[in-house]
Amino acid sequence: NKTEEFKKKLLVELGNTFSDESNILKEGNLNNTYNVHYVGPREDFRQKPQEQVSCELMKTKLQTLKKADLNTSEPLKNSMPKRSFFQNKTFNSCAVIASAGALRNSNLGKFIDSHDVVLRFNHAPTKKFAQDVGTKTTVRVVNSQVVTKPEFNFLQSPLYKNVTLVLWDPSNYSGSLQDWFKNPEYNLFNNFVQYRKQEAKPRVYLLNPLTIWDVWDFLQRNSPGRLRKNPPSSGFLGLRLLLPHCNFVDVVEYMPSTRVTKRCHYFDPDQNAACTFGVWHPLSLEKLLTYHLNEASDYEVFQKGFVRVRGFQNLKC
Ligand code: C5P
Repeated sequence: NKTEEFKKKLLVELGNTFSDESNILKEGNLNNTYNVHYVGPREDFRQKPQEQVSCELMKTKLQTLKKADLNTSEPLKNSMPKRSFFQNKTFNSCAVIASAGALRNSNLGKFIDSHDVVLRFNHAPTKKFAQDVGTKTTVRVVNSQVVTKPEFNFLQSPLYKNVTLVLWDPSNYSGSLQDWFKNPEYNLFNNFVQYRKQEAKPRVYLLNPLTIWDVWDFLQRNSPGRLRKNPPSSGFLGLRLLLPHCNFVDVVEYMPSTRVTKRCHYFDPDQNAACTFGVWHPLSLEKLLTYHLNEASDYEVFQKGFVRVRGFQNLKC
């Protein structure tokens, strides 16, 4: 049937993208901007039971920074929240909305809004797209380019008001937190501090950049081929961020559905297949691995457009 045929083709395409990358990387001629030096094993996640892979993902520490993580001499200490993201909070259903072009005409708005928590990325809008992407936003994961580039208007835009914000910027793989404070890729700290000052009840966090590399290590440990030495995509980080707090997480239009086209974003006409299949992030491996963790039916994945991943509280590790 149609779903089976599409699935076969897609898995081949993701698999090919993935092994082409590994072959290029074997020859060692790609940049290593973040000085990644991985020494652990490279295993094939497909050879491991689903729950084992989930348990390994659970052991990674993706964390937001809190006051206690910073030295007393660090000027940013005063601006850090006391608690971490969603500390001690749990929910039943959570949804992560990848911004893929295939959300167009998906009619998933009501389904998305039915979740207790809805996580979106960067400047992805809901206004004018409610039918397909819903209206609810609980959390926004925002990269440092969107925080700092004037065209995104981070401090003023309503997109970033009345939601919980998780901001991130990549650090050096084996550098320290202090190195990152001194030398971020895009300097998001000023706007972070300013946002906390200007909002009545700011809920804004910074991802600890060293823990982002812990998630990368997990991906590399579970990948038989070499991975790109760039951080995981925010899509995968968003999933990992919610898994400790939800009974299950539905990741919407991340594993491409039959609606997939070359279009990058649902809110923007630009065509670029690399958004979906990956060029900079280790995206094809992320997607194959997420599909390995999936508990929804193939009809739900490839026709409706979501994978369902079991929350960490429901694992027996
Ligand atoms: O483009 P942007 O980084 O804002 O998208 C957020 C996340 O959604 C990406 O990090 C990626 O994981 C996912 N995405 C995708 N396919 C697309 C566009 C985005 O999987 N076509």
